[in-house]
Formats: sequence, C-alpha cells, structure tokens
Amino acid sequence: MTQNEMKKAAAIKALEFVENDTIVGVGTGSTVNYFIDALATIKNKIIGAVSSSDESSKRLKAHGIEVFDLNSVDVLDVYVDGADEITKHKAMIKGGGAALTREKIVAAVAKKFICIADTSKQVAVLGSFPLPVEVIPMARSYVARELVNLGGDPVYRQGVVTDNSNVILDVYNLEILDPKALEAQINAIVGVVTNGLFAHRGADILVLGSEDGVSVVI
Ligand code: A5P
Repeated sequence: MTQNEMKKAAAIKALEFVENDTIVGVGTGSTVNYFIDALATIKNKIIGAVSSSDESSKRLKAHGIEVFDLNSVDVLDVYVDGADEITKHKAMIKGGGAALTREKIVAAVAKKFICIADTSKQVAVLGSFPLPVEVIPMARSYVARELVNLGGDPVYRQGVVTDNSNVILDVYNLEILDPKALEAQINAIVGVVTNGLFAHRGADILVLGSEDGVSVVI
C-alpha cells in the first residue's frame, strides 16, 4: 500500500466509531480529507459535524454535510483527526496544517479522540517534526526568544495566517521527553495561543493504516 492508501484505509475504518444520529468532530489534513469523503457515504445517518478549520468546513459542506458551530453543541461523542507524530502513549504533535488551536478546542469537547494515521507518524520520542506554536502576531519575537530559552530553534512560518488571524512558529530541535510538562510550559508563555503538543488530551484510540492493513490500537 502507498502512504495515501494507508491514510485512506485508516479513514474508512474510523467510520466504525461514528454512531447514528450524532454530530461528529472533524479534524484537518490530508488523512482527514479521506475521512470526510468517507463520512459523506453515511451522511444521511448523522446529524452533521463540528469542524476544526475553514478548509474542513468547506469540504464537509461540499459533500452536503451540515457544519455546526461548536457553541451550539453540548456533546460530541467522537473527534476524528490525524497527527504529525504519535507515541505509543498516544501523545501527539499536531499543527502541520496550522489548525492546531481549533483542533485542540474540538478535541477538548469530545468524549473520544480517534487518531487516524499511517505508520510514518509513529515515533518513540516526539520532536523530529518541528513543533507548531500559534502566536499572537505582536508577540512573535518575544515568544521566539522564550522558545530559544527552552532549547528550541523557532522558525516563523512565512506567509501563513491561521483561521484565528495569528501566526505560527515551528520549533525545531526539541527532544520531547516529557510532553505534558512541555505542553504546559509553552502554553504559559504570554502571547502563545496554544502549541501543537496534544499530551494532556492525547488520542484515546489510534486507527493505524500499515502495509499489512488497518489495526485499531486502544
Ligand atoms: C493540521 O493542523 C494537523 O494537525 C494535521 O492533523 C496533521 O498535520 C496531520 O495531517 P496529515 O493527515 O495531512 O498528515
């Protein structure tokens, strides 16, 4: 299987976690795009979706799936999203697509986080993928200096403005041995909106597409 076939197979398998007559939390990215396309095949069985980005909202609507404002939704049974890296403890780095803040908000509301990924996303230690940090624009240089003090090498993601009108710093050369501690430490820097470590609220279930097929890791 190619990488895209693995992503697609994981995305289709994740439909098994979607109950009838529910609103589904939907992430962002190329793996999630396969999930949205799969969700369209059962769109008459669900009420609709809450989306983590303008990009996903557009794709959901194009399929005729109703997109709800999170503020009008009390309960989300599942949130389905990809990852840039995931450990065996299901802590993740996310935000390669710059949607990390809305992803973290929707994930916080959902009862279960289903991560869909191919095997290239599995790592022993997080940090080879540069850690995205969403920052209020006027705080960019200050936050960058603070991230250097934490041992990282932040790089401004040129030309990218998030759905929340902020900017992204990608932090290179971090070996993240304690993801929960670093997640809290970076979020405590004034000017940081959020960072791409999903450790306090990691995934509950990993649906993994591999050369041998799809497995569900609980
Ligand atoms: C979006 O901001 C990210 O968190 C994505 O979920 C992550 O980058 C995975 O994307 P792919 O499915 O495209 O690899």
